[in-house]
Amino acid sequence: MKAAVVFYSLNGNTAFAARRAAQALEADLIEIAPEKKYPDKGFRKFFWGGKSALMAEAPALKPYAFSASLYDLVVLGFPVWAGNMAPPIRTFVRDNREALRGRRVCAFACQSGSGAETAFKKLEDCLGGALSAQLILIDPKDKPSAENDAKIDVFCELCRRE
Ligand SMILES: Cc1cc2nc3c(=O)[nH]c(=O)nc-3n(C[C@H](O)[C@H](O)[C@H](O)COP(=O)(O)O)c2cc1C
Repeated sequence: MKAAVVFYSLNGNTAFAARRAAQALEADLIEIAPEKKYPDKGFRKFFWGGKSALMAEAPALKPYAFSASLYDLVVLGFPVWAGNMAPPIRTFVRDNREALRGRRVCAFACQSGSGAETAFKKLEDCLGGALSAQLILIDPKDKPSAENDAKIDVFCELCRRE
């Protein structure tokens, strides 16, 4: 099964989990990033990122190499922002919605508290279909644990399951 892990990360937590998942799935790792970078520190980070998420923005992305037809499985990884998916993932899903239709899509979300369940619902609305597997992680880079690693491995097993 050929897989891709597509992720956006502002402060490295999602990137950390994405790398582990890609290793477990022997997947291509594809990082997406907005053309205009969000502030990554202090009040400005929460203000501009939170506003963008609340307004359900879909910011233009830097060019990336992804072709859904190459993959049987696509895993999306994103940080939760204001109870929503971080906006670059919305852009990615919008840009690839037709190509992703009918394909196996799974997702993991990194958060520091709560909101991932709502974010998954919004992601499913955007995709126009249900996710095949979901995983919620609490700041996996900042709070590394064997439990998180095990959760990622179980999630990858579920992603693989036909
Ligand atoms: C703009 C912004 C909004 C956030 N909103 C939430 C939230 O609603 N719920 C939550 O649990 N964490 C929230 N967080 C924390 C991040 O989701 C969390 O720290 C995540 O692990 C960061 O991933 P990253 O390091 O890949 O960027 C927010 C962070 C930012 C920057």
